[in-house]
Amino acid sequence: MDVHFQAMTVADAPHIAQLLSMLDETSDWGVEDLRTSLMEERLRGTVVYRGAEQNDKQELLGFIYWRSIVDEVEILNLGVAKSWRRQEIGRRLMDELFSFTKSIQAKRVFLEVRESNTGAQDFYRKFGFVPCGLRSGYYVDSQEAAMLMSLALGAPI
Ligand SMILES: CC(C)(COP(=O)(O)OP(=O)(O)OC[C@H]1O[C@@H](n2cnc3c(N)ncnc32)[C@H](O)[C@@H]1OP(=O)(O)O)[C@@H](O)C(=O)NCCC(=O)NCCS
Repeated sequence: MDVHFQAMTVADAPHIAQLLSMLDETSDWGVEDLRTSLMEERLRGTVVYRGAEQNDKQELLGFIYWRSIVDEVEILNLGVAKSWRRQEIGRRLMDELFSFTKSIQAKRVFLEVRESNTGAQDFYRKFGFVPCGLRSGYYVDSQEAAMLMSLALGAPI
């Protein structure tokens, strides 16, 4: 499979919004929110977006974005198009994240995931993430709780 991974720019906001609108499990961000966030990356480097595209087409197959807060990194969203799942795109997007955490010597990665989203939870567990809390009523659309998961980085002393 010929997929490449690259930084996303403000011009990609409509493609990310379109893919997001097709994923039931994620929080839906509108184009304007995405544009603002992508602009923030350009200005301050705090929010980082990576996308997966087929080499011969412009179709966005998946994306991840995260923000760094000193030596911690929070995954804000991650999604792979339904027809492209279980083909290691998610894992390779996580590789992009781990290159970044290494480059800034991050100590911890954390995220929120819907309590009912056991598929994504299993995916994150594969990388060593463990549940570390619950936020009741976190998702405004369904009042569903968010499970907090975190991963400690760096070699133990
Ligand atoms: C979670 C998600 C990003 C995984 O992407 P993906 O490209 O399908 O994942 P990969 O192919 O890289 O999977 C790697 C491994 O993770 C595990 N995994 C992935 N999806 C899984 C699922 N639905 N159920 C159980 N385990 C899963 C498997 O062990 C898999 O390896 P295998 O296929 O050899 O068994 C994708 O299912 C998705 O976009 N879900 C909807 C959006 C979402 O839930 N995002 C998370 C928001 S916090």
